[in-house]
Amino acid sequence: MSTLTVHHIGYLVKKIEKAIQTFQSLGYEIEQETTYDDIRKVNICFLIKDGYRIELVSPVSEDSVVSGLMKKYKNCPYHICYETADFDTDYASLTANGFIAIDTPTSAPAMKGREVVFLNSATAGIIELLK
Ligand code: NI
Repeated sequence: MSTLTVHHIGYLVKKIEKAIQTFQSLGYEIEQETTYDDIRKVNICFLIKDGYRIELVSPVSEDSVVSGLMKKYKNCPYHICYETADFDTDYASLTANGFIAIDTPTSAPAMKGREVVFLNSATAGIIELLK
């Protein structure tokens, strides 16, 4: 059985400060102020509304991990993050079901240094797995 629970929805935004204001106008509240992820070269801010957690992700430089996606998609949700209570089992199950890792488990400064890995599915798109 999968131990996955939804942790957040990752949302690409071009201008994070303006996006925060817009999300606030929709009723979102800041859960965690903007943090710079120096590994992925993005700014990250967590917002909450009605129990839903949104992660705003904004590229800081041309070589950020999301610069390619930003060119393709502009402002939009692009991944769902699942927290796992049993990483090895869930990871094996996901890869057996067509998910392919697009990086390796790496510390996430905006998530207290916890490790995350991104995977892609031809039928379900990008997910993030949080250890
Ligand atoms: Ni995320």
